[in-house]
Amino acid sequence: MAEERKKMLLKDIWLDVKAVQERDPAARSALEVLLLYQGVHALIWHRIAHWFWTHNMRFLGRLISQIARFFTLIEIHPGAVLGHGILIDHGCGIVIGETTVVGDNCTLYQGVTLGGVGTKKGKRHPTIGNNVLIGAGAKILGAFEVGDNCQIAANAVLLKPLEENSTAAGIPARQVKKDGVPVKDPSKKINTEHICKMQETIDELERRVKELEKELEKAKEEL
Ligand SMILES: CC(C)(COP(=O)(O)OP(=O)(O)OC[C@H]1O[C@@H](n2cnc3c(N)ncnc32)[C@H](O)[C@@H]1OP(=O)(O)O)[C@@H](O)C(=O)NCCC(=O)NCCS
Repeated sequence: MAEERKKMLLKDIWLDVKAVQERDPAARSALEVLLLYQGVHALIWHRIAHWFWTHNMRFLGRLISQIARFFTLIEIHPGAVLGHGILIDHGCGIVIGETTVVGDNCTLYQGVTLGGVGTKKGKRHPTIGNNVLIGAGAKILGAFEVGDNCQIAANAVLLKPLEENSTAAGIPARQVKKDGVPVKDPSKKINTEHICKMQETIDELERRVKELEKELEKAKEEL
C-alpha cells in the first residue's frame, strides 16, 4: 500500500514536470523544472499535505501547506483536490481554497484566486474542469462549475458557471467566445428596433429643420 502511494506521488510529480515542459515555452530540462520551478514545488508540497488532510491529520496538512506558502508564495489549502498535469506558471500570489476542485491539465498563472464568497461552511469554492487556462490575476469566486477546455482571461472576475469550450473576460466576466467563435455582448447589440428608432428621430429632426427654415424665410420677408 505504502509502495503504491509512493508510486502515485512520483507519477503525479512526473506529470507536473512534464506539464511545465510541454506548456511553458521558457522551460528547458526536466531537472531544471524540478529544481527551479516553485509551481512544481507547490504541487509536490500540496500532494503531501493533501494526503495528511484526507487521513485525518489536519494540523500536519495545514502546517505543510503553510510551509509551502512561505517558500513558494503559493497558497493551496490542503483540502483542495488537484488533478494531474497542472502547470502553475510563475505562481506568486495564487490562492486556492479548501473546497476547490481543479481538473487535469489545467494552467494557472500568477495571482489567480479560486476562492469563496461569504462565510458559510461547506462547498464554497469553484470546481474547474479539465484543460482550463486561468490567466494572470483572474478571480473565480463561488461554488460553481467551469467546464472543460475553458479559458479565463487575465484579470477577469468570474462569478457564475461557465459552459465548456468557452472563453470569459472582464469584470464581472462574461462569455466572449464559444467553441472559438466570438459571442456578441447583448448590451452592445444594435438590433433593427434600435435602427428604426434612430430613423424616426432623424425624420423628426429633418421635419423640424424644414419648419424652422420656413419660419426664418418668413421673418426675413417681413423685415
Ligand atoms: C483569455 C485569452 C486566452 C483569450 O485569448 P483569445 O482566444 O485569443 O481571445 P481574443 O484575444 O480573440 O479575445 C476575445 C475577446 O476578449 C477580450 N479579451 C481578451 N483578453 C481579455 C482580458 N484579459 N480582459 C478583458 N478582455 C479581454 C478581447 O478584447 C476580445 O474582445 P472583442 O471581441 O470585443 O475584441 C487571453 O486573452 C488571456 O487573457 N490569456 C491569459 C494569458 C496570461 O495570463 N498570461 C500571463 C503570462 S505571464
